[in-house]
Amino acid sequence: MADEAAVLVEGMVKRFGATEALRGVDLQVPEGSVCGVLGPNGAGKTTLIRVLTTLLLPDAGRALVDGIDVVADAERARFRFGLAGQYAAVDERLTGRGNLRMFARLYRLSPKQARRRADELLERFELTRAADRVVETYSGGMRRRLDLAASLVVSPSVLFLDEPTTGLDPRGRAEVWDAIRDLVATGTTVVLTTQYLEEADQLADLVAVIDSGRVVARGAPQALKAVTGGERLEVTVLAVDDLAPAADALRSATGIEPVLRPETRTLDTGMSGAPGEVARLVRELDAAGVVIAHLNVRRPSLDDVFLRFTGHPAGRPEAAA
Ligand SMILES: Nc1ncnc2c1ncn2[C@@H]1O[C@H](COP(=O)(O)OP(=O)(O)OP(=O)(O)O)[C@@H](O)[C@H]1O
Ligand SMILES: [Mg+2]
Repeated sequence: MADEAAVLVEGMVKRFGATEALRGVDLQVPEGSVCGVLGPNGAGKTTLIRVLTTLLLPDAGRALVDGIDVVADAERARFRFGLAGQYAAVDERLTGRGNLRMFARLYRLSPKQARRRADELLERFELTRAADRVVETYSGGMRRRLDLAASLVVSPSVLFLDEPTTGLDPRGRAEVWDAIRDLVATGTTVVLTTQYLEEADQLADLVAVIDSGRVVARGAPQALKAVTGGERLEVTVLAVDDLAPAADALRSATGIEPVLRPETRTLDTGMSGAPGEVARLVRELDAAGVVIAHLNVRRPSLDDVFLRFTGHPAGRPEAAA
């Protein structure tokens, strides 16, 4: 129901000169859920977030955040959402505590309230021990956590996170994911953008895949992955003549048409996920007389999702359009 959506976007269009960054985006995010906006560089993710957070005016369409129109009623809308942008908004030269107090003052909390709110947030994001160090000395994960904390000074109903873990190492990424999960557990609605299928998979209830300013697919991460297939097997054969018999063997064993890349002597196939499947496929290849040079089992990537829904690889929009 539109009334219960924490975020409602209808026919959103945004142009920058000749560039159509958003070409009619529709989105509905139920209260208390996490929506992942998944797309490659230049897809329009940041533009969407900036329109929703009143930083840009759309050319057409409308958006409601917590029921408030972000164009007609921008001033009120600003008190309903928090934003952690793609590039950190915290001041490197201030301490973690100093940053949070400053943000709290910007949101017009009294000095006393600001101090208390900063302490609560430092505690919640496990930054208490580092609170009095300047942000310059923080790790990437700590900065992002501080940025998240700063976006929460007014307990927003909706939190927008633009690529919250891009550039972090696996440990930093896991820390930020935990922080986001904690937030979601308190009932905050989250809209996050990402270039990583895995991130959407970990955090989102619903994923909207965007490409060149349009939503090209939407659904639960499970459903998107199911369409893409489970884990994938990449087989590199020693001799290029083995490609055809290898493809025949894989096709009859899996019932799935493998993708052939003759230039690298590689076959890439979806798998059903049955136990022992890799060993079985290797035996089939062996029985067909195929000599395997290299094997690689990998999880479906954003590229696989893209290829499936758009017919072209991520990042090369016009290749097969
Ligand atoms: N201020 C601007 N002026 C002109 N063009 C812009 C502006 N902002 C974005 N664009 C263009 O709009 C399109 C969408 O950009 P956007 O920043 O929204 O993509 P994105 O999905 O956030 O990409 P990334 O993953 O690299 O952050 C791109 O073609 C970009 O060049
Ligand atoms: Mg961006």
